[in-house]
Amino acid sequence: MPTLTVIVGSTRPGRAGRPIAEWFVERARRQGDFEVDLADLAEIRLPLFDEPEHPRLRRYVNDHTKDWSARVDKADAVVFVTPEYNFGYPAVLKNAIDYLHSEWNDKAAGFVSYGGVAAGTRAVQQLKQVVTTLRMVPVVDSVNVPFHAQFMGGDGVFRPNEPLDAAADAMLSELNRLDGALRTLREARRVA
Ligand SMILES: Cc1cc2nc3c(=O)[nH]c(=O)nc-3n(C[C@H](O)[C@H](O)[C@H](O)COP(=O)(O)O)c2cc1C
Repeated sequence: MPTLTVIVGSTRPGRAGRPIAEWFVERARRQGDFEVDLADLAEIRLPLFDEPEHPRLRRYVNDHTKDWSARVDKADAVVFVTPEYNFGYPAVLKNAIDYLHSEWNDKAAGFVSYGGVAAGTRAVQQLKQVVTTLRMVPVVDSVNVPFHAQFMGGDGVFRPNEPLDAAADAMLSELNRLDGALRTLREARRVA
C-alpha cells in the first residue's frame, strides 16, 4: 500500500491544525487507499534550517535532517495541513520544506487549509508555487475550511460538515490516482 504523509504545518499551543489533521487522517484511513503517517511539525521540532550544503546534495550533517529525510522519503504522496498566517503559510512549514530536496520529487501533493472567509486558500496558492519547484504535483481537488472554529467542539475535536467530508474523500481519490502515474517517474529516477 502506498504511504500518505500528512504534515501538520502549525505548531503553536492550542492550534487548530492538529485536530483538523486528525480528522483528515481518520478519513484517509477509512478510505483505505494509503498507509497514513501523521507528521506533526510541533513534535518533529526542526530547528531553523542549519545544514551547510544545499539539500539537493543530500550531504546532511544533522541527525534531525537525516530523520526528516527518511520520513519524507517513505512518503508516496503528501498532504499539507496549513492555516493562513498573514495571507501566507506558516514559516515553520517553509522551514520543513526547505530542509529537503529530492525527497519531495515526483510526489502528489494535496492541501487541507483553514482560516476565515478565504479558508486558507491564499496560503495554498503560495504553497503550490514552492512545492512545484520541488517537482511535486499538486492535485486540483482540495479541502478548504472556512471559519474552521464553527466545526471545533469544546472537546477539541474537529467535526466538519458533509461537503468537507466529501472534499476530503475526493482529494484522497485524486491523490491515489496521481500517485499511480507518478510512481513510474520515481522508479525511473531510482534506476538512473
Ligand atoms: C500570526 C497569525 C496570522 C493570521 N493571519 C490570518 C490570515 O491571514 N487569514 C486568516 O484567515 N486567518 C488568519 N489568522 C487566524 C487563523 O486562521 C487562526 O488563528 C487559525 O486557528 C490558525 O491556525 P492554527 O490554530 O493551526 O495555528 C492568523 C492567525 C495568526 C496566529
